[in-house]
Amino acid sequence: MLKGKTIILGVTGSIAAYKIVDLASSLKKKGADIHVIMTKNALNFITPITFETITGNKCIVDTFDRNFEFEVGHISLAKKADFFLVAPASANVIGKIASGICDDMLTTTLFAFTKTKLIAPAMNTNMYLNPILQDNLEKLKKYGYKIIEPACGNLACGDTGIGKLPPVELLEDNILKYIAYNHDFENKKILITAGPTKEAIDPVRYITNHSSGKMGYAIANKAFLRGANVTIISGDVNVKAYDGINIINVISAKDMYNEVINNYKNYDYIIMSAAVADYTPLNYSSNKIKKSDDDLKIELKRTDDILSYVGKNLNDGQKLIGFSMETENLIENSKAKLIKKNANMICANSINNKNEGFKSDTNKITLIKKDDVISLPFDTKENLANLILDEIIKL
Ligand SMILES: Cc1cc2nc3c(=O)[nH]c(=O)nc-3n(C[C@H](O)[C@H](O)[C@H](O)COP(=O)(O)O)c2cc1C
Repeated sequence: MLKGKTIILGVTGSIAAYKIVDLASSLKKKGADIHVIMTKNALNFITPITFETITGNKCIVDTFDRNFEFEVGHISLAKKADFFLVAPASANVIGKIASGICDDMLTTTLFAFTKTKLIAPAMNTNMYLNPILQDNLEKLKKYGYKIIEPACGNLACGDTGIGKLPPVELLEDNILKYIAYNHDFENKKILITAGPTKEAIDPVRYITNHSSGKMGYAIANKAFLRGANVTIISGDVNVKAYDGINIINVISAKDMYNEVINNYKNYDYIIMSAAVADYTPLNYSSNKIKKSDDDLKIELKRTDDILSYVGKNLNDGQKLIGFSMETENLIENSKAKLIKKNANMICANSINNKNEGFKSDTNKITLIKKDDVISLPFDTKENLANLILDEIIKL
């Protein structure tokens, strides 16, 4: 995925420096050529030998070290690399970068670097909230640096608050976003519904389905990496969207309907992957229904059909993508759904086989368009999300 890409990781004197070993290792496994530059103070937290062993490249600390190559190191590396991440970025280094100070190899190489620069501040909460640091970050943003907001949590100093280095996976996602993906959805707005709805019977019980939200979230995450501005209207799920994706949480089919209707006009693509209940209890009991020896009958009424509503009210240029899940006549039923709901494409799921459909990490999907049927290979939901987006962009 990162074959042929060169990434510089700038590591500063922060307790979180050790976490960059995992990042370097993961990026290297994805094929990238990794060069680590450490500040002298970072040497107090981690040794260059660790990075050198992981990356196979000399870990650079000293600008005037002449023992490894004859080129002017900071310039040649700055020209060669595709991406520069400073993580963890200390308050001190952020101040130096914002002031144009180049007094070590890290700040000098970064100053000579013209492509995407990402800064991941990590420090004590009071340091992070210090207005001088905040001003410095604003200044860096003004000059085109991307900043990853630190996470909240228990800090190494014993305080609790904002300032933690975000998880390595998030740092990696951001790198992938900028260099591994085509930004073919740049400036496009995508609304995705995902997960199950819950229809309350009484304060304790509800009717739901097996949807995990994994397919919808995979599409949302990949669309985000491909440059889209993404909102998920989400049922109750246990999957994670990348930071930067807007999430509107809902419980019932009615909530989902209201949020979609209030929002869909603002989006270029509306992708309806949620498993919305078709029926909801006719009457909600505000007290818990008492158990008795008799059977219980619950009368159900139809919920509003969200896909139909949006299909009938699309603006010019808006594209509507629906999902179908069938146990029989998958293609015929999905084709009928495409026409009836005025959708541009239906992603048809079968749930007849193991490892497909609900909850599974893998899936088998057939894409139904007005003039085409495309059978995608059995694959992970992550990979299928990209294949689905490849077809969506063509609509
Ligand atoms: C145990 C310890 C942990 C530290 N952690 C951080 C940190 O997370 N973030 C930070 O900005 N400074 C931290 N510092 C302070 C920096 O190491 C100090 O400001 C240093 O001058 C930064 O140098 P550099 O920016 O050249 O790497 C820590 C210091 C110590 C002793």
